[in-house]
Amino acid sequence: MLYQKLGKTDLNVSQLCLGTMTMGWTADKEASFAMMDHAFEHGINFFDTADIYSFWADNNDGGVSEAWIGDWLTSRQVRDKIIIATKARGRMWDGPDGEGLSRQHLMRAVEDSLKRLQVETIDLYQSHWPDENTPIEETLRAYEAMISQGKVRYIGCSNHTPSQLRDSLKTSARHNLPAYESIQPHYNLVHRAEYENELMGLARDENLGVIPYSPLAGGFLTGKYKRSGEIPAQSRGYGNDRMIPYLNKEGFDIIDAMEDIAQSHDATIAQIALAWILANPTVTSAIIGANRVSQLNETIKTIVIKLSDAEKAQLDSLPSPT
Ligand SMILES: NC(=O)c1ccc[n+]([C@@H]2O[C@H](COP(=O)([O-])OP(=O)(O)OC[C@H]3O[C@@H](n4cnc5c(N)ncnc54)[C@H](OP(=O)(O)O)[C@@H]3O)[C@@H](O)[C@H]2O)c1
Repeated sequence: MLYQKLGKTDLNVSQLCLGTMTMGWTADKEASFAMMDHAFEHGINFFDTADIYSFWADNNDGGVSEAWIGDWLTSRQVRDKIIIATKARGRMWDGPDGEGLSRQHLMRAVEDSLKRLQVETIDLYQSHWPDENTPIEETLRAYEAMISQGKVRYIGCSNHTPSQLRDSLKTSARHNLPAYESIQPHYNLVHRAEYENELMGLARDENLGVIPYSPLAGGFLTGKYKRSGEIPAQSRGYGNDRMIPYLNKEGFDIIDAMEDIAQSHDATIAQIALAWILANPTVTSAIIGANRVSQLNETIKTIVIKLSDAEKAQLDSLPSPT
């Protein structure tokens, strides 16, 4: 496993980050603990969560993923060995301050996350998505207070447009406030434009850490969804329209190209999808998701695969469906 600094911070993160959105959704506590054990044993020192994970699941009002990470950190006594990234913005309680990036929301949300995670400090606290109803300066002043109180070390953002990110970085500089040190974009072989058009250059120019989410497009880039339209049972795309944007010619042409490349590396399609993301020099760490150890075991093995320039160029040249 390789480690590198997240942007200008002193957080030395593994090239793979364990995403924990499935915990309390499609992975139960036992499977979640097994995945955290496996990730840790294989050198992953970076976990990503969010306070809302995963409120859309049955019997889950949010907070479950953070709480299980907290239980695991405590039971394994490894707090000092794991870099914890979480997020705030989504609705966590009723009323006007129950969601958003206002000071009122964030100051309570961070206390709740600290309690669930059973830690004194969150290493990376991220704005989950923008809040057009709150001035950026108010959000950054709330983060400044958290950092000065030792509750948060660094801040990052996710799902921001280039102009929202630029405005925020300018506001930080103008008022001498903490600045976002990382971005968490939606980025993978079938969803490229959102990151590559502008955010990628901005991240490079500003020396930001980049931690893309859904590098396997939620499972589509494993090759288990078929051109024939067959949706595997017990997969994220079963019984809903999540994978529809990719179930088309562009999407399957990418799978076919990856299949050929995978064969020559004695690898799987998922490993090639991840190797492609890790070959992008602007990417610090890819946030992988899994439901069980066997999936994680496959994806972690990616770290030994290096695409040739020609293979990368071939995948780069294919049109992305979204
Ligand atoms: N900032 C944001 O707005 C945002 C949004 C989404 C995610 N995230 C973060 O990013 C993390 C990862 O996102 P993601 O779960 O969408 O990532 P992903 O790696 O693209 O997809 C993970 C899913 O792919 C399937 N899968 C993984 N490995 C597999 C394998 N070897 N074989 C077959 N199927 C496999 C599993 O789903 P099935 O088994 O169900 O098919 C798994 O849950 C999340 O946990 C979260 O931390 C952030």
